[in-house]
Amino acid sequence: MNITQDGKKIISVGFCPPQWQKKAEDFSKSFKAIKDFSYTWRRWKNWENGKFPVVISLGGDIVGLHAATFSERSGYVNSYYQAVHGDMQGKRMGGRMVNFILSVSSNMGLKRLKMKTPLGSAGHAFWRGFGLYPIGYKDEVLYWDVDINFVENIAGLIEFMKHRQLHSPPPEKELKSLLRRGIELLPEDKVIMYKNWDFSK
Ligand SMILES: CC(C)(COP(=O)(O)OP(=O)(O)OC[C@H]1O[C@@H](n2cnc3c(N)ncnc32)[C@H](O)[C@@H]1OP(=O)(O)O)[C@@H](O)C(=O)NCCC(=O)NCCS
Repeated sequence: MNITQDGKKIISVGFCPPQWQKKAEDFSKSFKAIKDFSYTWRRWKNWENGKFPVVISLGGDIVGLHAATFSERSGYVNSYYQAVHGDMQGKRMGGRMVNFILSVSSNMGLKRLKMKTPLGSAGHAFWRGFGLYPIGYKDEVLYWDVDINFVENIAGLIEFMKHRQLHSPPPEKELKSLLRRGIELLPEDKVIMYKNWDFSK
């Protein structure tokens, strides 16, 4: 039972046990922003291949999910879907899951973090909160490709984001792929205003 002797619910973060697949899918269905999770994760055969989303559980119930993949081949963590139960938002649950992801990526020696977020979305605000900047933009979608080499946790991420001059730029291959897809690259220096959109928010 996920309850302590004094009746408190235990909160834990980690990879979703495979037997919780339905729980994770049901959780994702209550968020419009991540409604594709169930379909995509199945279509990519991630459950079969042992690629489980990160979840936060409270007393055995899923209250947060962050679906990311970790690739030793490319050196990238790809973040695809994240959501936290409405009652629990703003309590750093999202941050805890990122912290877990960073500890895994650091142990694997991965160097970069990549994701897409709709412009002005909760995800946009969330990542900006840690000091990250998007590098590309097209059709109301922001593209992020962040140096996380040597970043072991959230505190390290926040600190490292203050030192942009130390960051390695995305690999040439990735930049070319963005351009091929018609994605506009955002200026590398302090991206504040771009096409009247204030990216600092
Ligand atoms: C996006 C979402 C997952 C964030 O989860 P959350 O648990 O509410 O977020 P947190 O409480 O961890 O983070 C809130 C803030 O604290 C900051 N923070 C979190 N953990 C932190 C930590 N350990 N140290 C310092 N700052 C931290 C974050 O950067 C964020 O900053 P902001 O206030 O500038 O946005 C949540 O809002 C959500 O589920 N939204 C609906 C679903 C959705 O839109 N998902 C799609 C995302 S593309």
